Amino acid sequence: MLVHAIPKDAAYEFAADVRAGLTRAGQKELPSKYLYDDVGSALFEVISRLPEYGLTRADERLLRRHAREIVERVPGPVAIAELGSGSGHKTRWLLEAFCRRQHTSYYPIELSHSALVMCERELSDIDAIHIVGFEREYLDGLLEVAAYRRTGQDLFVLFLGSTIGNFDRPAGIKFLSQVRDILRPGDSLLLGTDLEKSESQLLRAYDDELGVTAAFNLNLLARVNRELQADFDLSHFRHVARINYQAHSIEMHLESTRRQMVTIPKAEVLVEFQDQETIWTESSHKYSADGIVEIARDAGFHCEVQWIDEQWPFAENLLIAE
Ligand SMILES: C[S@@+](CC[C@H](N)C(=O)[O-])C[C@H]1O[C@@H](n2cnc3c(N)ncnc32)[C@H](O)[C@@H]1O
Repeated sequence: MLVHAIPKDAAYEFAADVRAGLTRAGQKELPSKYLYDDVGSALFEVISRLPEYGLTRADERLLRRHAREIVERVPGPVAIAELGSGSGHKTRWLLEAFCRRQHTSYYPIELSHSALVMCERELSDIDAIHIVGFEREYLDGLLEVAAYRRTGQDLFVLFLGSTIGNFDRPAGIKFLSQVRDILRPGDSLLLGTDLEKSESQLLRAYDDELGVTAAFNLNLLARVNRELQADFDLSHFRHVARINYQAHSIEMHLESTRRQMVTIPKAEVLVEFQDQETIWTESSHKYSADGIVEIARDAGFHCEVQWIDEQWPFAENLLIAE
């Protein structure tokens, strides 16, 4: 696989975001995209196999079951771009179905280099596939993919795994509108969305018994130690999953278990934590099936069809650019 590697100074941006997020007034925060370094991407793969985390299996069941219908509803020729592909494991069902119809170009767009490498390993054996990976932010990568498209070729964008849920509602609509602006009328977007479910199911999914999600979250501090020479003592922080009823989301935080100071030399900052003060690291918003139709409409798409899993409330939504 050809990989277009990240072009700019990612280390500088990481340091600037860490400084901004940990020195802001009020709730400290680190952007969730930084959870996915090599260790984080590997841990996420484990999370997606945990019994408590039914989301990925629901997504995969729907893709597997409806792959043929999806191919029929997205007439060719198409190029396929995937935002935040991760390992691409469940994308196989779609790609195999498209490649049976035509030779297909697949463009995974990922910030995580190791996820792109996993993705190639996972999918390059499919017949009649051509993979070009983009180590980029979602929209930067999609702009480049759109520039690659040949005359008469439609674009089919995948945004699976309910990663849209990492944006709050207004930001999610804004993001989908920006995706829409890169597309042409008639292009399509397959959007995977986790639906609202019981409190206990959610808390188990984001705070599993084995502690893999806790390790995934704490790895963010370990990453700051590795890359920015910080001195976070991981034994003085703990993973917390917390439901935000107003926002219809579940949040991950890292809670300081004592009053402490942390130095982060490469971000040129010294940060004070109070006992029980938290760093907010991720939100996962949950949706109603009708709500997704409205979000799609507000972003310039119409929802052509929704498939809903029977075992774990999750919807796959085929959206067409207006
Ligand atoms: C929740 S995981 C989902 C992975 C996969 N799509 C799935 O459904 O299992 C989100 C993925 O998006 C990537 N990612 C997060 N923020 C990103 C950004 N701003 N631009 C590109 N990739 C990003 C992460 O590296 C990670 O692999």
